[in-house]
Amino acid sequence: MQMLRKRQQMRQHCDLRNKLQGRVAIITGGASGIGEATARLFADHGAIMVMIADIQDELGRQVAESIGTHRCSYVHCDVSDEEQVKTMVETTVHKYGQLDIMFSNAGIVSGSDQTVLDLDFSAFDRLFDVNVRGMALCVKHAARVMVERSVRGSIVCTASVAANHGMEIRTDYCMSKHAVLGLVRSASRQLGVHGIRVNCVSPNALATQLTCRARGMEMGEVQKSYEKFACLKGVVLTPRHVADAVLFLACDDSEFVTGHDTVVDGGFVRQ
Ligand SMILES: NC(=O)c1ccc[n+]([C@@H]2O[C@H](COP(=O)([O-])OP(=O)(O)OC[C@H]3O[C@@H](n4cnc5c(N)ncnc54)[C@H](O)[C@@H]3O)[C@@H](O)[C@H]2O)c1
Repeated sequence: MQMLRKRQQMRQHCDLRNKLQGRVAIITGGASGIGEATARLFADHGAIMVMIADIQDELGRQVAESIGTHRCSYVHCDVSDEEQVKTMVETTVHKYGQLDIMFSNAGIVSGSDQTVLDLDFSAFDRLFDVNVRGMALCVKHAARVMVERSVRGSIVCTASVAANHGMEIRTDYCMSKHAVLGLVRSASRQLGVHGIRVNCVSPNALATQLTCRARGMEMGEVQKSYEKFACLKGVVLTPRHVADAVLFLACDDSEFVTGHDTVVDGGFVRQ
């Protein structure tokens, strides 16, 4: 009897850890920050293959190797280039037989602290190429292979608290994240008929390569400076918190959730 109970507990524990058993996932921007944390979590949860798609080749390969090349692989893919996205998605399906999850996460910020008065449109165009065009390309090509193969897949995009609020600076970034929300809301309506779910995560500000580079500061300094943006105290937002929300949206725990913006913001506080 005791043995049986122990075995049941072990099975429960195993089920809790294997929310993505047998799934194939692509994570764009998986070489660092939120994407990297999600790649590690997906692999921990039994995904048969996590494909990291990024433009930081050396870092991407290192992350894949540290996770284990039997479960994680790196591919160079600039998400703003349709041919590269299409090839990356089709190669994944060809190699691993299916695509169940697309985490479209790659994103950039522009260097300057512009307001609308001094918008630099070459930086604006580059940012939209990655944050908007790239996001839409990944949703399009993932959805196409899912529809073709009748896969009831899950697509998750990374938006931001900036998708729901105006910002004092970084107008282009704020606009691009509003666009991600429009993409998720429209695609979820269009793809629901195929059983494909489309959702997004909207993190509050957190310390990653992206924010450290944009602000020219160290991780610890950046993290400290963001504490004021959450009403929840005693916990600091990390990529792992965001990855946990992505896992929920990617796995069957959210089987009836689509078109949803999952904020991970500790109660966003406007400054
Ligand atoms: N860090 C934050 O405060 C924050 C808050 C809200 C939302 N986000 C969003 O989270 C996402 C991930 O950002 P992060 O904070 O983990 O930053 P990060 O810089 O650590 O990761 C972003 C990754 O995207 C990759 N990338 C950039 N351009 C690419 C392209 N053209 N093609 C493929 N890959 C490309 C980068 O090489 C990098 O590895 C972004 O969409 C960002 O806008 C970040």
